[in-house]
Amino acid sequence: MKILVINGVNLNLTGKRERSVYGSQTLEEINEKISAYAKARGIETAFYQSNIEGELVNKLHEAFLNKSFDGILLNAGAFTHYSYALRDAIAAIDIPVVEVHISNVHAREEFRKNSVLSEVCAGTVFGFGVGSYIAAIEGLKFRAEQ
Ligand code: DQA
Repeated sequence: MKILVINGVNLNLTGKRERSVYGSQTLEEINEKISAYAKARGIETAFYQSNIEGELVNKLHEAFLNKSFDGILLNAGAFTHYSYALRDAIAAIDIPVVEVHISNVHAREEFRKNSVLSEVCAGTVFGFGVGSYIAAIEGLKFRAEQ
């Protein structure tokens, strides 16, 4: 099984910005943890980050057209709350996408409680820090084995 982990806008600053919300691990350290966890379960991972909405859309298209992944984890950052372009891209592809958030988006500002992506995602995991990505991998693995 091959899983692509996509992080969107501002996630490159993880470990440096708002540490009380997002923790002190850098995105590189988070990705290493995810990679090691997945590898131990026989799952291959690849990682991508961009602050640019269209580049995230392109990455989703590329994964679909190249048939290169069995599942995608997507932490779109703030794009989650208003990007219909990302929503349409997720709906367009036949790869299950799990919406992931490091923080508990439902325990924060009002605007974070709404996701325009959830309806077209296979599932959503939030609030567990790096554990959100790990739980999403388990969800995809379980789903693939049914
Ligand atoms: C986030 C939550 C979003 O609301 C926020 O805009 C982010 C990060 C998270 O991982 O908790 O940038 O997606």
